[in-house]
Amino acid sequence: MQSQQIVDAVHAKVAPLIGCGRVADYIPGLAGVDPRHFGLALATKDGAVYGAGDWQTPFSIQSVSKVFALALVLSHDSDAIWRRVGREPSGSPFNSLHQLEHDLGIPRNPFVNAGALVVVDQLLTLTGDPCLAVLDLLRAEAGNPAIGVDEQVAKSEAEHRHRNAALAHLVASYSNLTNPVDAVLDQYTAQCAIAMSCGDLARAAGLLARHGLRSNGSRFLSRSDAKRLNATMLTCGTYDGSGEFAYRVGLPAKSGVGGGILAVVPNRCTLAVWSPGLDECGNSYAGQAALDTFTTLTGWSVF
Ligand code: DON
Repeated sequence: MQSQQIVDAVHAKVAPLIGCGRVADYIPGLAGVDPRHFGLALATKDGAVYGAGDWQTPFSIQSVSKVFALALVLSHDSDAIWRRVGREPSGSPFNSLHQLEHDLGIPRNPFVNAGALVVVDQLLTLTGDPCLAVLDLLRAEAGNPAIGVDEQVAKSEAEHRHRNAALAHLVASYSNLTNPVDAVLDQYTAQCAIAMSCGDLARAAGLLARHGLRSNGSRFLSRSDAKRLNATMLTCGTYDGSGEFAYRVGLPAKSGVGGGILAVVPNRCTLAVWSPGLDECGNSYAGQAALDTFTTLTGWSVF
C-alpha cells in the first residue's frame, strides 16, 4: 500500500469516531474549537508528506511542544536535566500536584506539566528565550517560517494558569527552579500555544525517525539521546493513558490537549494526527483510534 492510500484508509476507518470525546475547556481559548476536525499526516524520514482531512490546518499543539523543548535541552547537555526530572510513567493526571509533592519536587517525567516547567526553566538558562528556540527548531525542520504562537490561546491560558502556577511554585519550593517562576510560566504558556498543521508537525519531528539527524543531515541529538527521547515518549507521552496507548498502538508518541498526537516509527516515518475530542486522560479520542488503525493496517510499530 502506498503512503497516500494508507492515510486515506485510516481516515475512512475512523470517520465514525470523529467528534467523540470532549474538547478541552479548562483553557477557554480551546473550548470553542469544532470537535469534528480531523487531520492526519505522514512524513517519511526523507521528508515527503502525505495527508488526509484537515492535515494542513494549524491547531494548538499544546503538550506536543514538550518533545521539542526536551530535545533542545538534550542537544545542549544529555545528562543535566535528568538530575532534576525523572523518567518514569506518572500513572497520574498530567497536572497532578499530589504526585509532585509526594516526589519532593522532582517531577515524575518531562512530559507532565511540572516536568515540562523544569525543562523550560533549563532551556531559559541555556537560551534566554525557550519559546523562540522551540519555534526556530520547528520552523527550520518543517521548512515553514510562518509557524508561530496563537496569541489568543496564549492569553487565555495565561489568564487561567492557576494550576500550572501552583505546580511551578511547588517545584520552586523544593529549589528545583533556577529562574523566576513567572518567567518560566510565561515561556511555558507561550510554547504550549504554538499553532501548526499536522503536515508541519510530522515533518518537524523527522529527526526522531532519523535517530537524531536534522533535515539537512547534521546531527542534532546523539543516537542514544534520540533513542532515549523516543523511549520516554513511549512510556510517558500519553500520561496515565500510556500503557493503553502502547498496547493499542505500539509507537513512541506525545499528545496535547489541543487534540494533537505526534507518533514516531523509527527509521521510517512520523505521523501527526489532530482531532480535538479528548478521552479522560486528555488524549485525542479519534487520534488514538487513527494511530491504532495505522499500526494494525501497516504492521509498522516498534514491536
Ligand atoms: O499546561 C497545560 O495544561 C496545557 N497547556 C498543556 C497540557 C496538555 O496538553 C496535556 N496533554 N494532553
